[in-house]
Amino acid sequence: MQTKVAIIGAGPAGLLLGRLLEKAGVDTVILERRSQDYVLGRIRAGVLEQGTVELLDKAGVGERLHADGLVHDGVEFCFDGDRHRFDFRALIGRTVTVYGQTEVTRDLMQAREASGATTIYEAENVSLHGFDGDRPSVRYVKDGVEHEIACDFITGCDGYHGVARASVPERAIRTFERVYPFGWLGILVDRPPVAEELIYAHHARGFALCSMRSHSRSRYYVQVPADEKVEEWSDDRFWDELRRRVDQETADHLVTGPSIEKSVAPLRSFVAEPLRFGRLFLAGDAAHIVPPTGAKGLNLAASDVGALAEALVEFYAERSAAGIDGYSARVLSRIWKAERFSWWMTSILHTFPETDAFSRRIQRAEFDYLRSSDAAARSLAENYTGLPL
Ligand code: APR
Ligand code: PHB
Repeated sequence: MQTKVAIIGAGPAGLLLGRLLEKAGVDTVILERRSQDYVLGRIRAGVLEQGTVELLDKAGVGERLHADGLVHDGVEFCFDGDRHRFDFRALIGRTVTVYGQTEVTRDLMQAREASGATTIYEAENVSLHGFDGDRPSVRYVKDGVEHEIACDFITGCDGYHGVARASVPERAIRTFERVYPFGWLGILVDRPPVAEELIYAHHARGFALCSMRSHSRSRYYVQVPADEKVEEWSDDRFWDELRRRVDQETADHLVTGPSIEKSVAPLRSFVAEPLRFGRLFLAGDAAHIVPPTGAKGLNLAASDVGALAEALVEFYAERSAAGIDGYSARVLSRIWKAERFSWWMTSILHTFPETDAFSRRIQRAEFDYLRSSDAAARSLAENYTGLPL
């Protein structure tokens, strides 16, 4: 088999890249280790920056997102029971859209299927070859048979545990990492959300988040130790803990019900540099991880592949390597700013094992500053709704 761009991974990064390239007439093959149902079964954050929505529109998959997505003008922070709303639209004229990552993935999969582009699910033993020269290729095994795809470029959109980054010689890559000493225990429930917008809550017992997927489906999280066992959390225990961490009004209005999903997610910050190795590019979770606190994971993946698609299209249309040469530096600058913001939100909202009386006062001062300073609130607003590339 032969293609222009071999894409490893059919998560949102790989699928969106594929879509943007197909739309520009650049043919692609996507190789995915898991089944389609498995990929669609993963539950992740659901807050889209305006730039992500624009990119999904450009990819021609915005219809359901505009029909079903909830446009949010702001978010609320709750500090030890004091709540404050940040109105992004009033502050900077920008908004975010709440629409589950699962739905984004489903829309992209359907568009790809309709376009007739090739996606190989359950591709085993994917391996990358020759990306330091002019003739890269990708090998994989499907139903026990080995195949090879010759291509011009390989893109690693295969997540944090993928094969692409692992195929780069150690001396060519540098990684930066911070692992946080806690995780998020999340539940999904078919009950209306407690509030119209998201509530990020700081409390001495730990962070909590009230989020949603729609007017009838809610997503809630509480901070737990990193090694916490989900079996130790009955629904009742979860609701009791959540009520303790939010303000009284929110606690009184929670509409509880049986969870339809419950899991613990670890928190990590991670960046790899650079993101280009000859004819191999990394994008999305393969290139970086953010803690979920700023809801940046999917948005960063989208801006990476938006830039990568532009660069590759320029290469084919104008025979210019300027875009692909500049890709790594261009996206890393935005990635680090999103890393900073996610780290900062994580730092002010969580209780760390080492949080002492001094750090608690500093966290409180951050909150008081944010709610008393227009400049501080605007900074939060521009970061949360997404910085330009
Ligand atoms: N071969 C083929 N596919 C692979 C391999 C491999 N060796 N390893 C991993 N994959 C696939 C995974 O099964 C997964 O479907 O790559 C895909 C990567 O998808 P994601 O993990 O969703 O990563 P990405 O597309 O970059 O999306 C980033 O996901 O985790 C969130 O916060 C993150 O929201 C952000 C988004
Ligand atoms: C979610 O709805 O899952 C969600 C929302 C906002 C975040 C993280 C997760 O910051």
